Amino acid sequence: MELPVVQKFADKVDLLKTTVAEKSPDIQVTSARRDFGSFHSSNVQELLGAIKTGNYVPPSLPFDLPQFSYRNGNTPSFGQEMRKKHFLLEETTFINHGAFGGTLKDALDVAQKWQVYIERQPLRFYDRELLPHLVFVTKRLAEFVGCSPTDLVLVPNVTMAMNCVVRSQDLKQGDTAFMLNVTYGAVKKLLKQVCEERGATLQEESLEFPLLGPSQIITKVKESLQPGTKLAVFDHIPSNASFVNPLPEIIDICHQRGTKVLIDGAHALGVMDLKLSSLGADYYTSNCHKWFCSPKGCAFLYVKPELQNCLHPLVISHGFGYGFNSEYIWTGLKDYSAFLALHTVLDFWESVGLQQIRGYIKDLVSQAVDLLVNRWKTGLLAPKEMFGSMACVQLPKCLLKDGCANYEQAEIIQNVLYSQYNIEVPVKALGGKLYVRISIHIYNELKQYQKLADAVEEMTL
Ligand SMILES: Cc1ncc(COP(=O)(O)O)c(C=O)c1O
Repeated sequence: MELPVVQKFADKVDLLKTTVAEKSPDIQVTSARRDFGSFHSSNVQELLGAIKTGNYVPPSLPFDLPQFSYRNGNTPSFGQEMRKKHFLLEETTFINHGAFGGTLKDALDVAQKWQVYIERQPLRFYDRELLPHLVFVTKRLAEFVGCSPTDLVLVPNVTMAMNCVVRSQDLKQGDTAFMLNVTYGAVKKLLKQVCEERGATLQEESLEFPLLGPSQIITKVKESLQPGTKLAVFDHIPSNASFVNPLPEIIDICHQRGTKVLIDGAHALGVMDLKLSSLGADYYTSNCHKWFCSPKGCAFLYVKPELQNCLHPLVISHGFGYGFNSEYIWTGLKDYSAFLALHTVLDFWESVGLQQIRGYIKDLVSQAVDLLVNRWKTGLLAPKEMFGSMACVQLPKCLLKDGCANYEQAEIIQNVLYSQYNIEVPVKALGGKLYVRISIHIYNELKQYQKLADAVEEMTL
């Protein structure tokens, strides 16, 4: 009897498998798809595992990437020249990088090249090439932030990562989650909502401003965190108050009390020297699209190996059930070009040099802060040494209408600075005072902060 076509084909596949198994006993051929990878490309966990064991061959890129030749002592000029050469920013007093970042021109070009390349043969890209490319770029980013590539996944933004972690917690009635009053607004809402849903308690502790030093925060955590608290959430650099939290000490206290620690590092990548494996946080997330200047829609989530099994993405897709990296790497058909452009962002930072970048930012923060404090005869929200690439400088008291600082007044001043002086800087009401939160990146220069000093002086007349 004639065999059905499907059966004949299945026999052929079996024959092929036998031949491969005889010729190459190392290659495991299974009858089904090889766990999670695409039909035509390798399993994601295996690819990442190969990186660990040193057997890794990166996929070749479909086009040449921009070359940065700053390595050979050929240091670029920071400030205006850097802005014109590597950013798309207009010539305004843009001192609010902390809000939405600002993308490197070359990285955006590369992301757009990927988009065009993908559409020339979508099947080739999505089915055969995408996963190995994502693994490749994950490997490079993991190296940069000091952890194993198997402990890090790419996500679109910190908000998504925070949701994944908080929603995956085993929080129930009688449990407590802990945060400080400087926690990012959206994250406060997330914690409140999840605690309410599960009948858990959310403990919020307040820091008093101005801060006297890191020990004030350490003492606050030491005195208020109860043993057995399920989860504590801290910003590496809080958005409003913009000081750098003393993470090693805080994490230590939490672990001594049996509390897992989730760090929101939205503002940290690029500004802080991250060594995630040794930092000891249970979960750490940061944006690439903020201070690292990648195209928008790019962030990462690090999770300690022993906690990876209990964590699942918000979006369940094909990789579900095949391991931490597989579960996150594909969240459905979408534009992955921001992730792929990370090669160029990493090339840029490595070429210019982290020491040079951080050195320029640190010096300029110090000069800008001194200038504003001296001109306005005010003070800072925290000691100068506690700031990274953002700082909160108090505005002159006479700008306050009835002596009380609130959100409405902050908004009015911010709008006047923008509409009348073309200065983009946020104004914050904290601890009964008004502050400007200045951002400093490699394209900024001192004269922009002089302009801010002048404008505020004029407003006080
Ligand atoms: C401290 C902090 N956490 C989280 C976020 C959210 O980042 P994203 O909108 O990229 O998810 C921000 C954004 O500014 C932030 O400042």
